[in-house]
Amino acid sequence: MHNITLINGDGIGPEISESVVRIIKASGLDINWDIQTAGSDVIEKEGTPLPERVLDSVRKNKVALKAPVTTPIGKGFRSVNVQLRKDLDLYANLRPCKNLPGVNTRFENVDLVVVRENTEDLYAGVEEQIDNNTAHSIKIITRHASERICRFAFDYAVKNNRHEVCVVTKANIMKLSDGLFLESYRNVAKDYPQINQREILVDNLCMQLVQDPTRFDVLVLPNLYGDIVSDLTAGLIGGLGVAQGANIGLNFAVFEPVHGSAPDIKGQNKANPTALLLSAIEMLKYINENEYAAKIEKALFKTLSSGFKTSDLGGNLSTSEFTDEIIKNLL
Ligand code: NAI
Repeated sequence: MHNITLINGDGIGPEISESVVRIIKASGLDINWDIQTAGSDVIEKEGTPLPERVLDSVRKNKVALKAPVTTPIGKGFRSVNVQLRKDLDLYANLRPCKNLPGVNTRFENVDLVVVRENTEDLYAGVEEQIDNNTAHSIKIITRHASERICRFAFDYAVKNNRHEVCVVTKANIMKLSDGLFLESYRNVAKDYPQINQREILVDNLCMQLVQDPTRFDVLVLPNLYGDIVSDLTAGLIGGLGVAQGANIGLNFAVFEPVHGSAPDIKGQNKANPTALLLSAIEMLKYINENEYAAKIEKALFKTLSSGFKTSDLGGNLSTSEFTDEIIKNLL
C-alpha cells in the first residue's frame, strides 16, 4: 500500500481529484491518500493558504498528487504553487507534451518535453515598490540552479532516448542573467556528447513552435519562459485540459497538471480530468507501479479514441460521465 499526499486544490480541483481517485481505485491499486486542503478555502481558518501540515505530509510521504490552487492576482498571499516548489526544493518542472489518440489538433507527431527551472528567475518574488508609479522585480539566476536544471534535462534525455536538448533564453538582451543560464547549459552539455545541443532565443522559439513543433525535442528554460512556453505547447496538443506536469526535486516529487483552477467552470461538472490523470499516471511510474500506469493509460486512450470527450475537446460528456467511461474501459 502506498501513502500519497493528495492536495485536492480549489476551483475545479476537487472535481478532477475525485475523478482521478475513482479511476485509480477502480484499476485495483490500493493507495492510502493523505488528503490535504490548501488555497483560498483554508486561509480564513488557518491564516495561510499553505499550512505547514501540507508540507509535512509531502515530506513524510515523499510523493504528492496536486490539483490546482488559485493565486489571487496583485495582492494577498504568495502563490501556494511557487511556495511549495521553493520550500520542498522541487527544482525541475517537467512538462511532456505529446499528441493524444482521438484528440485532433493542427499538428500530428508532436512529442516534446519542456523542462522548466522551478525555483528562481522573476518568480523568486523579490519585488519592491519604489514609488506610486514605479515597481521593481528582480530576476535571479544562479549558476547552481541553472546547472542542475540543465543536468536534469540532459539526464532526462539520456534516460528517455531523446536526441536533443535545446536551451531557450533571451541572452542577447539579458546578457548577465540569461547569459549565465546559457553559460551553465554549455558547461553541462560538455558531459553529454551523445545528445544534440541547440540554442534558441525565446521569441524565435515561439514562432517556430506554432509553425512546426516537430522541430523540437527537449527544451530547457528558466522559470518564466518555461511557464509561458508550456501553456503554448499545451495548446498544440488539445489545450490545458490534457497537459500534464511534475515538479521533481532530489527528495520529493509533486505531480500536477499545467492548468490552473479554472474558476470560470468551477462546480459545473465540466472540467476535463485528463491532465490530472496523465500527471497521476506519471506518478504511478515514478513509484514503480508501471502495470497500473499502463492499464489506466490504455483505458484513457481507448476512451478518447472512441470519441468520448469533455466539452473542452469538443465532446459532450460531463467530468463524471467521462470518468465512468474510463472506468468501463479498465475492465
Ligand atoms: P486556468 O488554467 O485555470 O484556465 C484557463 C482556461 O482553460 C479557462 O478557460 C479554463 O476553463 C480552461 N481550463 C483549464 N483547465 C481546464 C480543464 N481541466 N478542463 C477544461 N478546461 C480547462 O488559468 P487562469 O484562469 O489563468 O488561472 C486561474 C487560477 O489558477 C489563477 O488563480 C492562477 O493563479 C491559478 N493557477 C494555478 C496553477 C496551479 O495550481 N498549478 C497553475 C496555473 C494557474
